[in-house]
This record gives sequence, C-alpha cells and structure tokens, in this order.
Amino acid sequence: MARVLSGMQPTGRLHIGHYLGVLNNYNHLQNEHECFFMVANLHSLTAFYSDYSQIQSFIEPLVSDWLAAGIDPEKAVIFLQSDVPEHSELSTILSMYTPVSWLTRNPTYKEKQENIDKDIDSHGFLGYPVLQAADILLYQASLVPIGEDQLPHLELTREIARRFNHYNRKGEQDVFKIPDAALSNFPKVLGTDGRKMSKSYANTLILSEPEEEITKKMRQMKTDTARVRRDDPGNPENCPVFTYYDFFAPELKSNVDKECRTAAIGCKDCKAQLLEKMQPRLEPFREKRAETLAKPDLIPEILNHGAKAARETAKNTMAQVKEFMGMKTYSSL
Ligand code: TRP
Ligand code: SF4
Repeated sequence: MARVLSGMQPTGRLHIGHYLGVLNNYNHLQNEHECFFMVANLHSLTAFYSDYSQIQSFIEPLVSDWLAAGIDPEKAVIFLQSDVPEHSELSTILSMYTPVSWLTRNPTYKEKQENIDKDIDSHGFLGYPVLQAADILLYQASLVPIGEDQLPHLELTREIARRFNHYNRKGEQDVFKIPDAALSNFPKVLGTDGRKMSKSYANTLILSEPEEEITKKMRQMKTDTARVRRDDPGNPENCPVFTYYDFFAPELKSNVDKECRTAAIGCKDCKAQLLEKMQPRLEPFREKRAETLAKPDLIPEILNHGAKAARETAKNTMAQVKEFMGMKTYSSL
C-alpha cells in the first residue's frame, strides 16, 4: 500500500476545477492507499500574514467541501498542518539543504510575486516549496495528487529529498522516498471566460453555490466565439462549454459535435441540455455540505482525530531523520 499526501490552502470555496483536477483523485486514492489530506494553513500565511482570521474562517468550510466531495475520514487522515509541529521542524532542517538559487528560479515564485497585489516578499514565501517538501517527505509519501500548476513544487521536493539523502546516507540506505505526482485526467478545467478556471480570474463555478447561480453562470459562459448567429455552424474544439461534456455527459458528446458543426443545435439548447446533466451531479454535493456544516462539532472532531494520526507518522519520520543525521535527542519529552 502506497502512502499518499496532498494539501490545499484554505482560501475559499472549492470550484469545479478543484473537483475534477484534484479532489476526484483524492476520492479514488483513499480507497486504495493510506492517505493524508492536509489543510495547508501555514502556506496560506504567505499571502494572509496580516490577518490570520481570514485563513481561520476558511478552514472548516474547506473540510466541508472535502467531505461533500466524498473524502471519508474513516478512510483518510484529514488534518491541519499547524496541528502537527513536525512540519515546521522538518522544514527548518530541509531549508539548510536547499540552495537559494533553486528557490529564486522556481516559476511560481516569480509569477506570484508579479501577479499578487499584496507585498509577499518574505523569507517564508521564498521558502514555500521547502515547507511543501517537508509536508510530503514527513509522511514518506510516494504519491502526491496535485494539479499541473504544482509540478514545479514537486520537482523541488524530489531535488531536496535527493540532496538530503546524499549527505545522510547510511550505507545503501536513504532516509527519504522520492515521491511521484498523481495527475488528474482533466488537468485543465476551463472557466466561464474560456481561460483556466481560477479564483483569481473570477471565472469559477463554485461546487456549493445554488443551482440558480450555476445556471446563470452557464448562460453567460463563452462558447465558440466565431459562432455569432444561431445559424452559423460552430466548432466544438474552440468551445469551453463543450469541454464540460467530457465530465458531465460524455454519452452526448458525439451528437453535440455533429449538431454544433451543422448548426442543428443552438448554444442555448446545448447549454440547457448540459445543465440538465450537471445539476443532479452537483445537488448531492450541496446537500452533503450543508448537512456537514449543520453539525458544528463534526469537523473539529475530524481534525482532532486526524492530527493525532498524522502526528504519529510525522514523529516517526522525524526520529528517523535525526537518526540518519546523527542528531542525538537529549529530551525525553
Ligand atoms: N501548494 C499547494 C497549493 O497551493 C498546497 C500544498 C501545500 C500541497 N503542501 C502540499 C500540495 C503538499 C501537495 C502536497 O495547491
Ligand atoms: Fe459550444 Fe454547444 Fe454552442 Fe457548439 S452548440 S459552440 S458546443 S455551446
């Protein structure tokens, strides 16, 4: 049985892109492997350091999104990063094995700094991938379900692990396993404007938003921009709406493809028919999320239980790390 670790930042309600890109993979993996799913609140501090209360307000809703999507606390360990202090401990050690040039070269470092309108020029922001490496290596995870955008961070994790292993080998034995990414079949879900679905583009379909909202957003969603009038033939290959058929109505795809190209179907009807398939898939999600949030003790209990289980594994790895380094512990605490 492989170990799996993944994390998400608590920064707002999850959208369909999260579901198809990552959560769906969490769902499958929890049935086959030992899974750890972590709320990455320390990582969120990079952008929200001036006001932690914002991060706090997103933690329980994020877990409720996970539960609604089918993540099962009986199968997977669900925990909060800051409840397991070993993440910070391992991050400090790994940071000593991480050349600064690896971090300044990290594409997400440059990109975020240019695009976020906050001052995030901190030591912690530069070291973001080191903390992420600690998250993964602390559980000796061999699989990491992530979106494509996180691949540079996983590559850094692998490099940091190799470098640590190189200096701390015991004979033939290495401390850290080198993890692999588990990517989804739907790496790029498009938003209502045809760009990649992302909170920062304000083009998302939120998993838990009311039916009417989804309908309204779908109505406004971009289609093949070359198809101006109803009797213009369309090209589904240039239509973001068509990509949703892959997830929600694959059985209708070939028909829509034909009818769009011959202008037998108009975009309005095409969207209505898609919505008919989408809404029943989203409805149970909305219901389950509301049910979960109606029980105020449920998520705190899950996180408490999860932290205990996660810590056991994390402590074990830390003991191994120190042993490989020859770092003796004098404390009996
Ligand atoms: N950086 C990830 C993101 O923003 C979140 C994350 C933190 C993570 N630690 C992780 C993902 C460990 C995978 C593994 O999406
Ligand atoms: Fe897109 Fe459907 Fe309109 Fe064709 S008919 S352009 S697939 S919305």
